[in-house]
Amino acid sequence: MSETELSIGQLGPKGDGVHFGPTERIYAERTLPGDRIKAIVRRDRMGIARAEIVEILEPSPERVAAPCVHYDRCGNCTLQHMALDHYRNWKTTMVRDAFKKQRLHPVKWLDPIFIGQSKRRRATFSALKSGPKLSLGYYRRRSQEIVDVDSCLVAHPRILEVRNALKPLLPHLLPEGHPVDIFVQLVGTAIDLVFTGPCPRSFHPDSGLQDDLSLFAMKNNIARISWRRLERELPVQIVNRAPVVAMFGMIQVPMPAAAFMQPTQEGQTALANAVMAALPFRVSANSKLADLFAGCGTFSGPMLERGAVDAYESLPLPVNALNRAATHLPLRVFRRDLFSDPLKRDEINKYDAVVFDPPRSGCPEQAANMARAKTRTLVGISCNPATFARDARILVDGGYRMQSVQIVDQFLWSHHVELVGVFVK
Ligand SMILES: C[S@@+](CC[C@H](N)C(=O)[O-])C[C@H]1O[C@@H](n2cnc3c(N)ncnc32)[C@H](O)[C@@H]1O
Repeated sequence: MSETELSIGQLGPKGDGVHFGPTERIYAERTLPGDRIKAIVRRDRMGIARAEIVEILEPSPERVAAPCVHYDRCGNCTLQHMALDHYRNWKTTMVRDAFKKQRLHPVKWLDPIFIGQSKRRRATFSALKSGPKLSLGYYRRRSQEIVDVDSCLVAHPRILEVRNALKPLLPHLLPEGHPVDIFVQLVGTAIDLVFTGPCPRSFHPDSGLQDDLSLFAMKNNIARISWRRLERELPVQIVNRAPVVAMFGMIQVPMPAAAFMQPTQEGQTALANAVMAALPFRVSANSKLADLFAGCGTFSGPMLERGAVDAYESLPLPVNALNRAATHLPLRVFRRDLFSDPLKRDEINKYDAVVFDPPRSGCPEQAANMARAKTRTLVGISCNPATFARDARILVDGGYRMQSVQIVDQFLWSHHVELVGVFVK
């Protein structure tokens, strides 16, 4: 494989440096605009040219030493080699560019909020037992290799404590040669652990699995441990020592295993604050609000301060969890697929404000119905600026003004970013 010299012109959407060749773009991970590198270029399975650094011939002025000891091998934190100011500027520009592409000009850009190190309260570690060796960490990027990480600058210290306590237990628990994912989530002060992958013992109480995991949970103050063979299966609860309950505003939600939560408490607070700042104060005693793609109620809970809330969500477990939290509160929970059966214009018109927080793919069908509605305030939350801007265009074409955008970066050193957009008609 021959080596070639590349000059990096800009960063691509996933944070890889891009070299603009005469016929095509070459993506070089862990590079920055201004870098000149010696590299080996290969094609990936999609035919995209990707460069691997052999030597940095001339570093970008924005390049810094990555602070994490695992940086060279671990597949996460793609942008630790970028000076913090430039990294923040890149994230902000990425969102602004997505809006510009859709010819959207929000009236106000609020100061972006950047969440720092050691705050991530959810992590999925991968584990592999291979003979006497056990790796427990994150996948190397575009590789099946698991990098053993005993430290991580983005994870909450409690998550790392659990990871490090798990390591000596796993050789007795894991199958030989099959990777198993271990999801660890900090819910308030409770730890929820979910294994996904083949289990060499049965889940039957006689198998001894329950004893081993119960002892581990007791020693390490783990609230709940579940196991599922495949991600699409429901986790089987093996240990249940303490309630796993999340506080969202005024509601306490008993969280299902591996439930979706915002990745940091600080990010959740920032997003909820941005939502609340946009919602009208109780316009009447009968104020009605809707929370679409509600999950377990991250926003429904705080929204109850401003009126009765109808929460819509397609998955049964979050719907049940939120229903249990709703007792005696003006909170109604509806199981509904908002892609195939979006709220209709007349249904939307019943609300004083609508909050929507769809998955990464966005919600163009729902946006089309909202665009035609009379509801004065719409508040969108998204982790994908491109699909959000596409849906925002639909709302603006329907007569909404894009009032403000709040960027919240709770995915430090990655290419992911979250935002809240407010629309007024
Ligand atoms: C980004 S999460 C947001 C959840 C919640 N708002 C939060 O912040 O915790 C998106 C939510 O949309 C739900 N969802 C996905 N597809 C859906 C659909 N077709 N109809 C309704 N809800 C859907 C997911 O189950 C998930 O709870």
